[in-house]
Amino acid sequence: MNAPRNTQYRHLDVQKISGSLGAEIRGVDLSTDASDEVLSEIRAALLDNLVIAIRDQDLTPEQQLAFARRWGDIHLHPFMEGMADHPEILAIIKRPTDKKNFGGSWHTDQMFSPSPAMGTMLYAKEVPSAGGDTLFTNQYLAYESLSDGMKAVADQLRTVCVGDNFKQAGGVSRKDRYARQMSEMKVKDPGNVQTTSVHPLVRTHPETGRKALYIGGHVQHFDGMTDEESQPLIDFFMKHSTRPEFTCRVRWQTGTLTFWDNRCTQHFAVNDYPAETRIMHRITICGDAPF
Ligand code: SIN
Repeated sequence: MNAPRNTQYRHLDVQKISGSLGAEIRGVDLSTDASDEVLSEIRAALLDNLVIAIRDQDLTPEQQLAFARRWGDIHLHPFMEGMADHPEILAIIKRPTDKKNFGGSWHTDQMFSPSPAMGTMLYAKEVPSAGGDTLFTNQYLAYESLSDGMKAVADQLRTVCVGDNFKQAGGVSRKDRYARQMSEMKVKDPGNVQTTSVHPLVRTHPETGRKALYIGGHVQHFDGMTDEESQPLIDFFMKHSTRPEFTCRVRWQTGTLTFWDNRCTQHFAVNDYPAETRIMHRITICGDAPF
């Protein structure tokens, strides 16, 4: 079964932003209680486009949470401290003095959880005058464009994903890294929440039935293989899955709420605004175990 590709919308203005994925949506006010019909058009737009940038919103944290809860339970980040008065919302803040940004490498959210976040809603509160865009890539296309031989290899592989001390960050803990480089991102102890998980490299999207490559920066090695054996293949899959022709770029405006499907995309927050502030409110929605 394939995702519906050309839904006719009665309530939304939906404009694609690249050939591979992504759309801008206008004509909906998420601060009011959207009707079931409007919500089902938003779901169709998400399944068709994988990433939707809903423009011109004016949302309180309560309104963003109310919209998010229409999609399922909220997935709490095991390592990141939420907002004091709204622990379900992660404020992603980068100040001019911060050297690094949160999410500045290709990844898919909470891949280290046994049931990773189905989707992420990021709402722009303050954006730099230029830059601070987010890149997305279509992981259906990444899988479908592999040769039959490589598909057969990928179909057999399982990834071991971790939530902290990533290889690509030199094994440094989140706590140390963030304290040094991201002054307002507070790391907490995950307690007994599971933060290492094994997932299929190729997952089937539970709603569209399409297969997608499921890879990102949390992958450390393949199950049953050493780091040395795994790394060349991880490098291949990462390079392949982020080819420019599989990507789109969301240019933020204050009031844009971008909703992406973590089951078939990766994303990358671009760190190119050294002298400015960027503030986003992020909510992740619970998903199911990849299969
Ligand atoms: C994230 O990786 O969730 C953050 C993306 C962004 O800030 O653009």
